[in-house]
Amino acid sequence: MDYLEFFDLKEDPFRLTPDPLYFYPSESHNEALSSMTYMVEQKEGFFLVVGEPGTGKTTLLNTFLDTKGWKDRAGIALVLTPRLSPEEFLLTVLDDLNVKIENTNKNEIIRAFRDFLIENSMLGRRIIIVDEAQNLPDETLEELRLLSNLETEKEKLLQIVLIGQPELRKKLLMEKLRQLNQRITLRAILNPLRMNETSDYINYRLIKAGKGSVIFKENAKKLIHKSLMGIPRLINLISSRTMMAAYLDASKQIKKRHVLYAIRHLSDNCTKKGFRTATVRLIFILLFTIAFAVTVS
Ligand SMILES: Nc1ncnc2c1ncn2[C@@H]1O[C@H](COP(=O)(O)OP(=O)(O)OP(=O)(O)O)[C@@H](O)[C@H]1O
Ligand SMILES: [Mg+2]
Repeated sequence: MDYLEFFDLKEDPFRLTPDPLYFYPSESHNEALSSMTYMVEQKEGFFLVVGEPGTGKTTLLNTFLDTKGWKDRAGIALVLTPRLSPEEFLLTVLDDLNVKIENTNKNEIIRAFRDFLIENSMLGRRIIIVDEAQNLPDETLEELRLLSNLETEKEKLLQIVLIGQPELRKKLLMEKLRQLNQRITLRAILNPLRMNETSDYINYRLIKAGKGSVIFKENAKKLIHKSLMGIPRLINLISSRTMMAAYLDASKQIKKRHVLYAIRHLSDNCTKKGFRTATVRLIFILLFTIAFAVTVS
């Protein structure tokens, strides 16, 4: 009998994919999603979402596109690899929005783009979304200001959403990006989960995966929360390992000792006692974050 069969689950509840079907609306995730929807509906210009690695920014974006249906309701340019020069960035956006422009001079392109947007403004909203926007070169960020200026007397012709890690906010405070920073009309921060949210989050994902017969004991969830400071990606990693430990133990109840086993297993270098200190917890979190970043890059 395999692991999922043992717990009567349809699928792995703690996969590391930004799957909108598993989107858990914590207070800050819910607020960010509502703001993003409001911003697009009201045709506001610029929206910024920041959050530490693994707090759910890409999951939020996918939820906005799929569950809220914007993928079909608007023309969207989605930039996922933003290490692009201003010209490359502009061409990617035009290509995504199906705008055919022959010109190669940047100012000409922008003028033609504006004409296109005005002519087609009745056909619905056009949104540029950049994930991992902390990786946008400064010059490309500066260029975004030009795009945010595309407007009629009544409304913005483009909505721009920047999603990134906290260093993006720092970048935008730089003198040369001050004008861009001033154009941001709405901001949201994705916070790590609180204790009660971590507990709900674990239950929520189990229900989505088929409920099954697995039960996380309260003190096990508390330990997961304390050790991982409410970062969803790390909660997934540890919860998955914890269930494996319970499976090997033939227990459908997830106990504190299974969590401790998983933590020890995932970080051979750290001692059990060490995990109780905030410093070691931090090192642990950093190691996972770096390891994950290396795996996906
Ligand atoms: N609100 C949430 N509901 C459900 N799952 C979530 C949520 N937030 C994060 N996760 C889970 O945590 C993991 C990491 O999420 P995600 O990739 O969205 O983080 P991120 O903030 O984009 O990270 P990075 O800064 O590294 O790009 C995913 O497996 C995702 O399923
Ligand atoms: Mg991401």
